[in-house]
Parts: sequence; C-alpha cells; structure tokens
Amino acid sequence: MDITTHVSAQVNTPSEAPAPLRVAVIVASNREGRFAPVIADWFLSRTAEHDDLDIDVIDLAGIDLPTALSFNPSDEVKALLAQVSPRLDAADAFVVLTPEYNHSFPASLKNLIDWTGSEWHAKPVGFVSYGGMSGGLRAVEQLRQVFAEMHATTIRDTVSFHGPRAHFDDDGRHKDPSAPNTAAKALLNQLTWWAHALRNAKSARPYTG
Ligand SMILES: Cc1cc2nc3c(=O)[nH]c(=O)nc-3n(C[C@H](O)[C@H](O)[C@H](O)COP(=O)(O)O)c2cc1C
Repeated sequence: MDITTHVSAQVNTPSEAPAPLRVAVIVASNREGRFAPVIADWFLSRTAEHDDLDIDVIDLAGIDLPTALSFNPSDEVKALLAQVSPRLDAADAFVVLTPEYNHSFPASLKNLIDWTGSEWHAKPVGFVSYGGMSGGLRAVEQLRQVFAEMHATTIRDTVSFHGPRAHFDDDGRHKDPSAPNTAAKALLNQLTWWAHALRNAKSARPYTG
C-alpha cells in the first residue's frame, strides 16, 4: 500500500478551479493476516485515475488506540491521536474500507470513531466493503447509523466484494474488474459531488452542528 499524508492549504474561490479534494481512505481491518491491503491497493488504483483527489491512507493497523476511552488520555494516547485526528480533520471526504465481522464492522473502526468527533462533521463517507456472502453490506448498513451520529452523510452507492479471495489473483489483481471498477466510479462520482457541495457550504457558513 502506498501511504501518503497531504495536509495543504485549502483554496476554493469561485473564479479558480477548486482545490483538490482531500480524501482519507480508512483501512479498517487491523487483523493479523488480513486481506485488507489487496482491497486497498485495488481501490487506490481507482482513485489514481482522479488527479482532483488528494489521497491520504489511514491504516488502522498502524494506529493502536486503546479501547478504554478517556477524557484525560495519557501522553502516549495523545501522541496516537495526534497521528490520526489532524488527518481526519483535514479530509474533505472519507472512504472506509471495511470487512464484515460477525455481521458488523471491526472494533478497530468503532474505536477510532469513538476517540474522535468533530473531525467527521458535515463530510461525506463512502464505503468499500468485503466479506462472505453479503460482501460486507451488513457492516456498511450499521456504519450508516454510526456516521449519522457523527454528523456525516453516507454515500448511497458502495463497492462490495463477496468472497473476495476468489476474485483476486496472487498478485492482487482483480480477475474481472469491469463491475467493481464501474461501482467505484459511481461511488467516487457521488462522493466528490457531496464533498464539493459540503466544502463550499461550509466556506459560506461554518457547520455548527
Ligand atoms: C472474526 C471474524 C468474523 C467474521 N464474520 C463474518 C460475517 O459475519 N459475515 C461475513 O460475511 N464474513 C465474516 N468474516 C469473514 C471476513 O469478512 C473476511 O475474512 C474478510 O476477508 C476479513 O477481512 P480482513 O482479512 O481484511 O480482516 C469474518 C471474519 C472474521 C475474522
């Protein structure tokens, strides 16, 4: 996976081309032996076709936040939050790559959401899901409820892979990419529409919740 961080000044005046949208791609699985990097690499191959997107991959395998929440976190936890919170805050939009665990989404993702808050406000969230027969869709439907609480808007169209291991070759290439590529196009089209609309709205009138 190519992990890059971009935190640059946002300029978006009506007379100029809009500044690139900053999209945080969140890799939710931190499981040992996870399939997530294959899904992430495929999705990054889709975003690479959009030079109007500034991608920041936030891999939860690298951010080991404790599950015990605190209003007075230790210096160690503050340092972990400092690794992730400003990047969420800087994003105009999110794409969550989530597997399904026990008909829901991974605890690592809920933990990140519970440790954070306003970073998500008034921003769109898209989903790429994967799992068994349901392709992770049960995880996605539950996340829609969670992200409503975070003042975020979730994108209708998703990409979902059921039994993904059978669909990718040993080099991580999708064997029949036409349908998922089309799904990714719809997801990114809707995500960028909402991201521009909400960024413009917030520059005219800050979101106060
Ligand atoms: C603890 C656990 C629970 C799972 N529960 C489900 C499930 O309820 N439904 C499903 O379709 N797949 C389920 N799976 C399969 C995973 O979605 C699948 O293995 C996926 O590749 C896991 O993502 P990861 O390898 O990136 O962690 C489960 C896997 C694990 C490890």
